[in-house]
Amino acid sequence: MQLRVTSLPGDGIGPEVTSQAICVLEEVAGGFGHDLELDEKEIGGAALTKFGNPLPDATMQACLGSQAVLLGAVGSPAFDHNPRELRPEAGLLRLRQGLGAFANLRPAVFYPCLAACSPLREEIVKGTDILIVRELLGGLYFGQPRSIEGAPGARQALNTMRYSEPEIERIARVAFQLARTRRRRLLSIDKSNVLECSRLWREVVTGVARDFSDVQLSHMYVDSAAMSLVQKPAEFDVILTENMFGDILSDQAGGVVGSLGLLASASIGGPVGLYEPVHGSAPDIAGKGIANPLGAILSVALMLRHTFHLSKEAECVEAGVTSTLKGGFRTRDLARLGERTVSTEEMGAQIAEFVRLAAGANNRAAS
Ligand code: IPM
Ligand code: MN
Repeated sequence: MQLRVTSLPGDGIGPEVTSQAICVLEEVAGGFGHDLELDEKEIGGAALTKFGNPLPDATMQACLGSQAVLLGAVGSPAFDHNPRELRPEAGLLRLRQGLGAFANLRPAVFYPCLAACSPLREEIVKGTDILIVRELLGGLYFGQPRSIEGAPGARQALNTMRYSEPEIERIARVAFQLARTRRRRLLSIDKSNVLECSRLWREVVTGVARDFSDVQLSHMYVDSAAMSLVQKPAEFDVILTENMFGDILSDQAGGVVGSLGLLASASIGGPVGLYEPVHGSAPDIAGKGIANPLGAILSVALMLRHTFHLSKEAECVEAGVTSTLKGGFRTRDLARLGERTVSTEEMGAQIAEFVRLAAGANNRAAS
């Protein structure tokens, strides 16, 4: 099978983790007999520095011409004072929009061998396996009007939370479908005791549920859900929520399972899927070779599953991550005091090696 992928390393630790994810993807392609066509382009601060634009046309065109995009991270303090359209984040938001990627999937899974990494007691966190389905193209992130206006000292800032019925319905359908592939429990999180957007959200989601009578739907307010997420994370299955709530709750879920560095994401729904780790650019540790590449590597697994429908290959990458963690390999974010740590590259190499051996075994079995 041909795999046409655009890679966008971006800023901060983005390039370090992306290059490990690509090593793993190359190993998958080689080992399972796929033809990988890779194209690398700039985004975010890297693109601003080079072209004065966080999402140059050449980047957008390359992404639209490929089947999937692997992104590292965007964001750099160097651009903190830029106007909004000239910030690295604007490049990512325009990319998500340009790809029509309205459904953001963020799995948060607890690894028993990382029990010591979670701030929660093992009896609380064990069994946690959550899939956050975050609406990605609406709400406060994109709502118009938006502005900061007025004279210094008396300025006013405005953002708009806006959702239409079709926008809610399409993300709800994705979440219900995914719930069918899991434990068939869907929790929709909103703030319908205060927000009109949330009242419409709850109404539309409840309507969609009629087409999915085999999935058990429940609703929760976001404040209460935030508490439950740390009190009984193992009780969650699929979470469906709007853009801003999903941004916040997914970082929280990363903390619950031990490190945001472990979380991967898939942004789907449009013609081209976008895959990126949840962690962001982490400028404080960039360039040191200590970043955790697992979020990026697990994003490759999501790409194999959701864009290419190669579930055996996706499972192989995930098995590589599990086995590497079981083998005691820890980047700094996962290490306990006194534990030996490995570099970004060593961690990536372990998984690539696992894939190479597993693919070899797979090929021998097939012949
Ligand atoms: C994320 C990030 C982005 C977001 C930023 C970088 C625009 O925090 O993917 O969660 O807020 O969506
Ligand atoms: Mn975020």
